[in-house]
Amino acid sequence: MQYHTPVLVKEVVAALKTTTATAIMDVTLGDGGHSLALLEAMREDAWVLGMDQDEDAIKRAQARLAGYGNRFRAIQGNFGNLVSHVAALGVKEVDGILADLGVSHLQLNEARKGFSFMTSGPLDMRMNKNLAMTAETAVNELSENELADIIRAYGEERQVKQIVRAIVSHRKISRIKTTDQLAAIVQSAIRQKDAVKSLARVFQSLRIFTNKELDSLRQFLPQAVNLLKSSGRLVIISYHSLEDRIVKDFFRQEANPCICPKDFPRCVCGLEPRLKIIGKLVRPSEDEVFRIRTARSARMRIAEKVQA
Ligand SMILES: C[S@@+](CC[C@H](N)C(=O)[O-])C[C@H]1O[C@@H](n2cnc3c(N)ncnc32)[C@H](O)[C@@H]1O
Repeated sequence: MQYHTPVLVKEVVAALKTTTATAIMDVTLGDGGHSLALLEAMREDAWVLGMDQDEDAIKRAQARLAGYGNRFRAIQGNFGNLVSHVAALGVKEVDGILADLGVSHLQLNEARKGFSFMTSGPLDMRMNKNLAMTAETAVNELSENELADIIRAYGEERQVKQIVRAIVSHRKISRIKTTDQLAAIVQSAIRQKDAVKSLARVFQSLRIFTNKELDSLRQFLPQAVNLLKSSGRLVIISYHSLEDRIVKDFFRQEANPCICPKDFPRCVCGLEPRLKIIGKLVRPSEDEVFRIRTARSARMRIAEKVQA
């Protein structure tokens, strides 16, 4: 079986203090590559709880990590609802939490999930099949302005007007239902030398929108801090500047929450830091980027819960 190749594995294992940690949550389990490395590095009595909103990922990771017995468990769910999922299992606190955002290579390559312009499939893009809106609904039913906003904001694409105009004129004639239909429409509207990059940006923007990825991330971060023990670590790997900005701003805010005017001699607002930022932004080495193409955009941030 071909699995997703995880990025920054050594760095994740070190950041999560695996030699002493007894309980770690991997909230983006995927194919379980990071979880596998964590289980290998942790003590024999330490456990990992995996979570993913994609039920196919849960099944694959469960089969892959079955050999770890009760040291590994997996639950299906959105990390935006982290606290309610773990409360249902009776888990009150953990030593570390990992979120490796985005999609796995397997999701990307599975045509029926509709994430990729390289494979032909239904224009779906939902990581969780219970979500109401598919990318097909978005492409065919949102207004021209709404579509333009999504592609501009989540794809950071410049040729938005041409792309959206082409989509709208096509959908007046017939509904856009497949990834290759959408890819052909986008390609017909843009400069050919930019085609692959623009296609990647359009598909990424629709994926982020369909799965409400940034909303889930915003909901997840404060819940993750609540779930950590004192001195527990939160490690986030992001692949997109918007995700990374949300993480960076959250860490800064939690590390320095004081709202007192700068000229006050001492803090009177009473807001105490809940996190300490650990080290600088971590990027993959040149060698890793050479080996794993998707690693080139990975950025890892680490924070530690401050003693209450
Ligand atoms: C980059 S992959 C993780 C790969 C994993 N680290 C590994 O080693 O195989 C991201 C995973 O996160 C999941 N995911 C993305 N957003 C999620 C969310 N809001 N809640 C739960 N899982 C999510 C995706 O379904 C995907 O399986």
